[in-house]
Amino acid sequence: MVHAIRIHANGGPEVLEWEEVEVGDPGEGEIRVRHTAVGLNYIDTYLRTGARPLPMPAVLGMEGAGVVEALGAGVTNVAVGDRIAYADMPPGAYAEERVMPARIAVKLPDGVDDQTAAAAMLKGMTAQFLIRQCFRVEPGMTVLLHAAAGGVGLIASQWLNHLGVTVIGTVGSPEKGELAKAHGVHHVVSYNTENFVERVQEITDGAGVPVVYDGVGKDTFMDSMKCLSPLGMLVTFGNASGAPDPLVLGDLSTYGSIFVTRPMLFHYTATPEALAACANDLFDVIASGAVKIEINQTYALKDTAQAHIDLEARKTTGSTVLLP
Ligand SMILES: NC(=O)c1ccc[n+]([C@@H]2O[C@H](COP(=O)([O-])OP(=O)(O)OC[C@H]3O[C@@H](n4cnc5c(N)ncnc54)[C@H](OP(=O)(O)O)[C@@H]3O)[C@@H](O)[C@H]2O)c1
Repeated sequence: MVHAIRIHANGGPEVLEWEEVEVGDPGEGEIRVRHTAVGLNYIDTYLRTGARPLPMPAVLGMEGAGVVEALGAGVTNVAVGDRIAYADMPPGAYAEERVMPARIAVKLPDGVDDQTAAAAMLKGMTAQFLIRQCFRVEPGMTVLLHAAAGGVGLIASQWLNHLGVTVIGTVGSPEKGELAKAHGVHHVVSYNTENFVERVQEITDGAGVPVVYDGVGKDTFMDSMKCLSPLGMLVTFGNASGAPDPLVLGDLSTYGSIFVTRPMLFHYTATPEALAACANDLFDVIASGAVKIEINQTYALKDTAQAHIDLEARKTTGSTVLLP
């Protein structure tokens, strides 16, 4: 038996319970992993509340790093003793040990320690697919990135800056503004006190931006469309403030024949080749120092409920790691 954070019903952070669970042996195509660090992500709160239904009881968590303890039949991409990390379905990372599909495991290079990996795999590969695949930025562009001081935000800001992009970043407090500035955001916009549509128009001399990366959802979605230049793309990739209202198709033409996409990382890393390319791109920017992974909060894994409370109260910045 090992300890895990498990839920038996959807609800608030109080449903996250520290329990003993059976891990079992890995089946075909699976590995057993002993976690050394686990990542906290906003998507974990959607699974906890039931915004995305799961069979109960369920162990949450989609990002972790650790050591391979055992292999199921047919596993060839990793070996017992390898240091690995992952960011994908199925959930189960909030545990001292777990059995999981081998295909989602990535071997860690020596230069990336376990806590950095647990802080970076999901949020960093998300930044990678957003800015390098979904809407591929070019040097000289100016883009809008919401929640720039958050987990995905701090990584994406640094990476965009490294690629020669001018970043307009929204934040919820002056402290977060300072942090975002120190991580590559050129123009900080406080969206609680300023009208971000007007600020984007000012900064871009009325041209708008070719892309908005919006992980905030409900509170920003409609206005994000108004920040785009003609033929621009709204990448709505998360719902930290709730799910956006339904899209009126006519708005796409009203705002300049714009495009809207609602992507998921897991579709961009669905094949071994795509996963390796995405992870290697991330490891390269970490190794070069272009992107620094900021672990601004750590909690004992058994205190995951408190981590959820703080994440949802907008008290966290950068990445949060849970320690088994
Ligand atoms: N589609 C994908 O594949 C994918 C993958 C990873 C993450 N995501 C999404 O990316 C977003 C960021 O994820 P993360 O884990 O890095 O979280 P995070 O950005 O560290 O935390 C969410 C941030 O959103 C902002 N926010 C604005 N309104 C909020 C509200 N009403 N309640 C709570 N927060 C609010 C807060 O920053 P301020 O205080 O500065 O406003 C908060 O810190 C999430 O929406 C997540 O679901 C999507």
